[in-house]
Amino acid sequence: MPDLVLGPLLRYVSDTEATVWVETDSPCEVTVLGAGARTFTVSGHHFALITLDDLEPGSTLPYEVHVDGVTRWPRPDDPYPPCVIRTHTPGEQVRLAFGSCRVSVPHTKPYVLSKDDDPAGREVDALLALVERMRHEPSADWPDAILLLGDQVYADQVSPETKKLIAARRGPDGPPPDEVGDFEEYTSLYRESWSDPALRWLLSTVSCAMIFDDHDVHDDWNISEAWIEQMRAKPWWEKRVVGAYASYWIYQHIGNLSPSALFDDPIFCAVQDAEGDCEQLVHDFSRTAVREIAGARWSFCRDFGRTRLVVVDSRAGRVLTEGRRQMLSDAEWDWVEDRCAGDFDHLVIGTSLPVMLAPGMHHLEAWNEAVCDGAWGKLAARQGEKIRQALDLEHWAAFQSCFERLAVLLEDVAAGRRGPAPATITLLSGDVHHAYLAEAWFPGREVISRVLQVTCSPVRNPLDRNERRALRSAFTRPVSAFARRVARAAGVQPSPMQWAFAQEPTFDNQIARLDLCGRDAQLRIEKTLPEDWEAPRLHTSLSLGIAPKPSR
Ligand SMILES: [Fe+2]
Repeated sequence: MPDLVLGPLLRYVSDTEATVWVETDSPCEVTVLGAGARTFTVSGHHFALITLDDLEPGSTLPYEVHVDGVTRWPRPDDPYPPCVIRTHTPGEQVRLAFGSCRVSVPHTKPYVLSKDDDPAGREVDALLALVERMRHEPSADWPDAILLLGDQVYADQVSPETKKLIAARRGPDGPPPDEVGDFEEYTSLYRESWSDPALRWLLSTVSCAMIFDDHDVHDDWNISEAWIEQMRAKPWWEKRVVGAYASYWIYQHIGNLSPSALFDDPIFCAVQDAEGDCEQLVHDFSRTAVREIAGARWSFCRDFGRTRLVVVDSRAGRVLTEGRRQMLSDAEWDWVEDRCAGDFDHLVIGTSLPVMLAPGMHHLEAWNEAVCDGAWGKLAARQGEKIRQALDLEHWAAFQSCFERLAVLLEDVAAGRRGPAPATITLLSGDVHHAYLAEAWFPGREVISRVLQVTCSPVRNPLDRNERRALRSAFTRPVSAFARRVARAAGVQPSPMQWAFAQEPTFDNQIARLDLCGRDAQLRIEKTLPEDWEAPRLHTSLSLGIAPKPSR
């Protein structure tokens, strides 16, 4: 009898619609609340995305998953509350949890120790601590959605279990033995990452949206044109990157889409209609998406009442021609700008890479891009590329023309030139393994909205003491002033947007939550502690109300 391998994951949820994703061990019909879907098959793996519509706004719907008519979820011994679909109520508050960067290693010693105490230590998973709290609080206090901002799986830092699987599967061929090589190995990586019973319950009950970042594919993914050339020269790269895109499309991307967007997706429609294994179809699509930026758009948008969430892909859609580097293609920029226009109380922009960085990092990245573009000559450009790759200088600041274009867009929206100004515009990001809140202003310009950056990383992958010290220095005045002077010397122009930080950065495993109610907002960042590993708990490191600016 067919059974679930992975999921259910509750993905898109609106006032009246929802989608539920599963992986099964053989072809079957999957049913949720009377809505059914036949599995589609890719490389011998079976998946279904069930779409539900005509749901009652503001309802809490306990659900089961039936596979060929047999109840397969929840499991009979599941200790968690019933899994539910909670549809939104127009005008009600929205509670959005978010974070990024989560390695999958066992939750036992030495993996729960700090990295300073044991090199294998990755401390306590913030998502497990979130589940522990949710088990004991009313569902009315749960987040409505969770946004995973990249590095859900680490294709280049695998667990001891995956290492064993890779060793059993392939000999000396392929990428290094502690890295994933192809689609098949990616399926194991997702299974490992999402199989923990606590996490499985969380993702079955809280609507989840997600976007990839570098480690979902490879460290430094798409950092520069030179990096792409280096990777394409490796005999194993093509299989790895096609496997990364194909698995991302199945495991992460399709669940980000609304039912109407899904049925506008020709690949999704094709796999629904296909008779046999869709390996060729999905892999051909992935190969095209790898080579041609216009081959796919991974950015997506969701509305929660009067809050709009626009999630911007800041990795796959890059244009990397030196001298004309862009974080997004022109077509994707147009799409993002269109989605940021309208009448909302809050505009939330998710992008895996922070826009407002520690000032020392910002100026260093801007300087590096100018040098790589030839500001100090060809020899310096070659050295600049080495520094770029060694120090991961790849955030919005390293794409200055796009940083400025985004700053102009933020100022336009905040000044009310793209529709009535929202109370807040908040950029949510991860990647950098620390957390902070920054607030922007635009010198010489008046804006109505508060413009904020909340960065929250990692969920589980903390830095060691030396790495933390180096990053802290990027927040200090002397380092920032020096980096700014060096950037100016390379011809970098002053930024149209300035920002300041609400508190010192925090470096723990952590998760953030943004509660949006009417025109008000509340932000909380919570961390885990290694000593709580047997009973994970969240400890508040920042809790702050964000009132709208007084109207004039
Ligand atoms: Fe990352």
